Amino acid sequence: MSDQIKVMIVDDIAETREQLRKLLSFDPDVEVVAMASTGEEAIELVSSVDPDVILMDINLPGIDGIAATAEIIDILPTVQVIMLSVQGETDYMRRAMLAGARDYLTKPPGADELIDAIHRAFDLKQKLGTGPLGPLPTRNGDNAKPKVSPALKAKVVTVYSPKGGTGCTTIAVNLAMALQSMLGQGGKVCLVDGNLQFGDVSIFMKLQPARTLADLAPHAQDLDADLLETVVVTHDSGVKILVAPTSPEEAEVFHDSSIEESGANTRFRSILEFALPHFDYVIIDTAHQVDDVLLAALDLSDLFLVVTRPVIPEIRGARLFVELLDKLNYAFDKVGLVINGVDNKRMGIQPEAIERAMMPALAHIPMDERTALRSANLGEPVLVRGGRTGLGQGLVGLAQKVHNRVYTAPENAPEAEELDKRAGLGRLL
Ligand SMILES: Nc1ncnc2c1ncn2[C@@H]1O[C@H](COP(=O)(O)OP(=O)(O)O)[C@@H](O)[C@H]1O
Ligand SMILES: [Mg+2]
Repeated sequence: MSDQIKVMIVDDIAETREQLRKLLSFDPDVEVVAMASTGEEAIELVSSVDPDVILMDINLPGIDGIAATAEIIDILPTVQVIMLSVQGETDYMRRAMLAGARDYLTKPPGADELIDAIHRAFDLKQKLGTGPLGPLPTRNGDNAKPKVSPALKAKVVTVYSPKGGTGCTTIAVNLAMALQSMLGQGGKVCLVDGNLQFGDVSIFMKLQPARTLADLAPHAQDLDADLLETVVVTHDSGVKILVAPTSPEEAEVFHDSSIEESGANTRFRSILEFALPHFDYVIIDTAHQVDDVLLAALDLSDLFLVVTRPVIPEIRGARLFVELLDKLNYAFDKVGLVINGVDNKRMGIQPEAIERAMMPALAHIPMDERTALRSANLGEPVLVRGGRTGLGQGLVGLAQKVHNRVYTAPENAPEAEELDKRAGLGRLL
């Protein structure tokens, strides 16, 4: 069978190597092509053996699993490394991911877990090899070194509402967390606070960033992975955040350069473009105006979430915005309506009426002042402890819809003409 998954095992303990090999012998799709007892040996073997997936022990005598991974990916950029470690080494885990490991398992892994991880890693390798970028270059120059991860192309989701206070930041933060947890430890989710003047993602997530997007802006045209890494802040959930400048004045650095002909902010756009290959998802929170920064975000987005609460002025704003998107020639099927703060007991407009006036919503998120307030005041995203609340469930449901929508054809996306035909709330707006 030519398309067997070639696996290499790296562990200093012979018994562990043997156990792993035995576990894998139950899967006919997997072939163990090499075993190594040190990082050095693995590095030496890797190019001749050309494995698809490497199971790497994190603690090795001599060069450790993390350093070995970085070296190996340098030699064979498409290889997928799954790091194995005893429990409770979260710091290690993060470093392993930064070194380019794809996944992380605790020792001893269960057979299913191990085999699943290998298949996942292999699928990803296949995708990378056949993606629009083609296979990654092998070592022969500096640009062959993927610092953060092998080349991906992030799906970009922008969260926007024409009015403030509708829940954009709440949604952006928790969407990023839910996607991160859906993708698992190997997933790479970046949350960008595109509300450059008054961004509050760092407050919502209780981050104390040493650096912000303002530090990247002057280098926007010549970014490198090291610089990106020093500015990105990692939340406990694993989500990586590009935090907004700390003051409105600092945000001015984004306007020191010319705006593109298309009207998009050059620096913001360049930063996003640079970040995309390093992540599976980039989620962008935004300010509540249509400006050059928003246009840059929209240009790169696979999905625009337009958030409204069930009150007339916000619905009207959302509808005007959707119409504007159409006028600006953005594809209509990229729009996803989110109705936030739905409260069946109160007087708000029925979500169904909003949908009739605009389009089917991707999600209805319930009103839950208690959970939302607590979360905002503690700087603890709802999904940290409120995953079981109605609000938490609504947010997780939204993440699932987003994931389905960007990875499959949108079955619910309305045509532009449909919007005109919808009378619904027309007379109210
Ligand atoms: N579904 C909800 N139910 C109750 N309160 C909410 C809900 N979503 C958001 N909030 C609260 O509304 C306020 C504004 O939310 P925020 O996410 O900052 O909105 P925006 O970013 O659009 O200005 C915050 O205090 C937040 O906790
Ligand atoms: Mg906000």
